[in-house]
Amino acid sequence: KSAMLEDFHSHLLKSRRIVALLGAGLSASSGLPTFRGAGGLWRTHDATSIATPQAFAADPAFVWQFYSYRRHMALNAKPNAAHYALAQLAKSTTKFLALSQNVDGLSQRAHHPPSKLKLLHGNLFDLKCSDAKCGYREPNNTTDPVVPILAIPQSGQDPTATATATEPNTNPLIRGLDISNPNHTLPSIPTASLPHCPQCRKSLLRPGVVWFGESLPTDVLADVDAFFSADEPIDLMLVVGTSSAVYPAAGYTQVARNKGARVAVVNPDPGSGRALDGKRDWFFCGDAAEILPEMLRPLVGDVRGV
Ligand code: APR
Repeated sequence: KSAMLEDFHSHLLKSRRIVALLGAGLSASSGLPTFRGAGGLWRTHDATSIATPQAFAADPAFVWQFYSYRRHMALNAKPNAAHYALAQLAKSTTKFLALSQNVDGLSQRAHHPPSKLKLLHGNLFDLKCSDAKCGYREPNNTTDPVVPILAIPQSGQDPTATATATEPNTNPLIRGLDISNPNHTLPSIPTASLPHCPQCRKSLLRPGVVWFGESLPTDVLADVDAFFSADEPIDLMLVVGTSSAVYPAAGYTQVARNKGARVAVVNPDPGSGRALDGKRDWFFCGDAAEILPEMLRPLVGDVRGV
């Protein structure tokens, strides 16, 4: 065991309150692309032309197909040992709260207790009405509302190809959604065929994720603030697989430091968490799926092969 890991473990065992900020790198080993690193989604796509309310208003069919593809990728991915290690930590007696920027649902599928997991940027599998005043929400939707529309045989398409939430790649149309290819052409879907809100019956349904320019869910923010404003210190902040590029999520690390937390960063990019430079008490360079189970082993035991 390295001296650094030894040192981290001795602090971990004395920690009473731990908080974690989780980013796309946590799910990288599960095969899901990150956003800004190599192969990142925002490297092949312009985030502002997809992940914004304006983009959805301008071309809801394209935005929906982008999110349908991410839903399919997430459904076909599996939680990795880091998701399980964090879930086990959440079940331990240590007071722990995970602040996740991820929308892929993998922490939930690793049985991370919902009360110990705050989804700062929503969830790919929550649908909601695009009219905020309507307020309709449909949590845990995994039967894709758009891909079946895509399966409607376009002229010359194979009519037997049916897309389901679990086998995205059987349908030639879904392969066409390969968003890693910036030049891919998407089948066009008339807005009238896109999923509409069953409550107000006039606005489109949209993925329940936070888009750029939108505020984070107020109930989630209130829970996070309650955790930080408890009059006990925070002993440890885990910053896992995030570029710390997006606020207010990235700001929580400083909030934790202000409550006395020492900071452990897990990232293969030595430059990550640049804002934390000099404030990273431990920097574990590498894959979260490999490293986090070792870091948390004293509290969670062996989570491999869970
Ligand atoms: N293990 C740990 N970290 C990894 C791994 C891995 N196997 N692979 C990559 N990383 C790191 C990258 O070095 C990078 O620092 O994960 C980080 C991913 O950063 P981003 O792609 O920016 O993802 P994230 O920080 O989660 O983005 C924040 O931005 O696009 C919005 O709303 C979106 O929630 C997202 C937010």
